[in-house]
Amino acid sequence: MMRTVLVVEDSPSLARTYQGFLEHAGYCAEVAQTAAAAREKLNAAAPDLVLLDLQLPDGNGIEILEAAQDRPDAPPVVVITANASMNAAVEAMRAGALDFLAKPFDKARLLVTVESALERASLRKVVSKRTTTTPAARRMRFIGESRVMHTVYQTIEAVASSEASVFITGESGTGKELAALSIHESSRRAGKPFHAVNCGAIPENLMESELFGHVKGAFTGASADRDGAAAIADGGTLFLDELAEMPMALQTKLLRFIQLGTYQKVGETKTRKADIRFISATNKLPLEAIRNGELREDLYYRLNVIPIEMPPLRERGDDIGLIAENFMHAFARQEGKAFKTLSEDARAALKAYEWPGNVRQLQNVIRNAVVLQNGETMTAQMLPRGLMQAGAPGPAPRPAPRPTDGFSPAPASGSAPQGRPEQEILPLAIVERRAIEAALEATGGNIQQAARLLEIDPSTIHRRRKSWNRQSA
Ligand SMILES: Nc1ncnc2c1ncn2[C@@H]1O[C@H](COP(=O)(O)OP(=O)(O)OP(=O)(O)O)[C@@H](O)[C@H]1O
Ligand SMILES: [Mg+2]
Repeated sequence: MMRTVLVVEDSPSLARTYQGFLEHAGYCAEVAQTAAAAREKLNAAAPDLVLLDLQLPDGNGIEILEAAQDRPDAPPVVVITANASMNAAVEAMRAGALDFLAKPFDKARLLVTVESALERASLRKVVSKRTTTTPAARRMRFIGESRVMHTVYQTIEAVASSEASVFITGESGTGKELAALSIHESSRRAGKPFHAVNCGAIPENLMESELFGHVKGAFTGASADRDGAAAIADGGTLFLDELAEMPMALQTKLLRFIQLGTYQKVGETKTRKADIRFISATNKLPLEAIRNGELREDLYYRLNVIPIEMPPLRERGDDIGLIAENFMHAFARQEGKAFKTLSEDARAALKAYEWPGNVRQLQNVIRNAVVLQNGETMTAQMLPRGLMQAGAPGPAPRPAPRPTDGFSPAPASGSAPQGRPEQEILPLAIVERRAIEAALEATGGNIQQAARLLEIDPSTIHRRRKSWNRQSA
């Protein structure tokens, strides 16, 4: 069925231009040049989407935005703002606009925005209809029954059946890759390959070959033809992890690949085809990465059709105990240990801790405790001391908003427990840097090995080093 877009724009020439773009792409586009006309059209029949210029001769666009939302079918609204007035865009988003376009924009940008707004709106409808808890949570390997996680499960389920690109954000270790895999496994592409590329862990000069492959002799060391991610993931899902670490020039090529579905191997002019569903992730704030020139804005909008934000572990309440218990049972089986229950005090200590490394850190803590300790009940005493000190007295301090590197600051030492005097406590970022540098020194600069010792992902080391370089530049 043809989808209708109501274009509300007072300039006749612009209105006609937008109308032309939309009709050429297969939409039915109607034009209203005044607020009054827009209101009339909205009342007559709801369009599937409203494209709304905020500056109208006879009234404020925000009023039209509100009128659209008051309709029972509440069509999504994309607002158009003059470049200079980003405040207006922000105000409109707060008032319920789904997205905005800053003038001037081209046809491609208009169509991508409209398409993605329509897709998001229809998926939101599906998501909001589900209010009960989903048994799918079990199918998806995630442990956790908190409200925030159920929202994640519902979104995963809702998007799985579509082909929409998904963009996952969240601190390190929150389960971004697990979410990507869950989407793949609940999608039509399950059974086809799921291929992950960690853009933070691959040297820049090899990244293009990693994505698109190369032919023999394409560069020094290319001793044979090799398939890249595009060929490997053909028919399935490609997970682009740490997307903001991809070199800008390659981001341009990736964008072209996404738009056309075609690519070229390094060293070859032949054009190849691949059918791929894209899921991307980053533990940076994407808008900040765009501002810092690390992420192409058009690529981001192309990939961010459906956003999923993985909540930090500290916001998941009783999930912490639940996850810990599950890990405890799994590791006990693996290690031939007797652990069966998690004591209440252990549960409380785990819940009070801040978990800057989130689920991955919890996994490591429990693994170590299972290996080093013995008994049927895991008590708080069996947990690492640092963790106990941070969480012991009373509830954990609520952390400040997430800083850009995805790590929480060291917990404020309000009612300092016994142990070290306050002046000896260093900011977590410094402790972290020293730990990474020590590991690199111990391994002669071998990042893979250092990462293994630190039980973190190699990409974290790459990332941190980049950000230190930036700071010192
Ligand atoms: N809710 C959960 N229940 C059980 N296991 C989980 C859950 N979330 C994450 N995990 C496990 O925790 C580990 C970290 O998850 P994952 O690798 O998906 O995180 P990430 O966000 O991609 O981390 P990073 O930013 O470091 O790449 C994995 O072993 C994953 O299986
Ligand atoms: Mg990951």
